[in-house]
Amino acid sequence: MYSEKVLDHFRNPRNMGEIPDADGVGIVGNPVCGDLMNIYIKVKDNRLVDIKFKTFGCGAAIATSSMMTELAKGKTLEEALKITRGDVASNLEGLPPVKMHCSNLATDGLHAAIENYLEKKGRKK
Ligand code: FES
Repeated sequence: MYSEKVLDHFRNPRNMGEIPDADGVGIVGNPVCGDLMNIYIKVKDNRLVDIKFKTFGCGAAIATSSMMTELAKGKTLEEALKITRGDVASNLEGLPPVKMHCSNLATDGLHAAIENYLEKKGRKK
């Protein structure tokens, strides 16, 4: 049901945890299942220099968040905002259709964290 890549990111999640002095925080919930996601970002020169996640979500949410952080790290804010749940799923070699909604948490959380950062700086998305 799950690709080897999904299982690897579920068993060994990258960038899991919290950034206490984060520049932006995104907190989102999944209306389908009620699970929650927190994304923390550090920004320097318009680039995501660090990103971490904490989730009360399922295994697919953990794997997609882990992959999303790998895709987003080092990107400019504009590049990071273009990352879609489809990008995350294809880099994980696919997700079962019933689990696609879980990948929304990762990308929605990323976008919310960037918006939070831009708001604090008085900038627009
Ligand atoms: Fe809730 Fe996957 S079932 S995030």
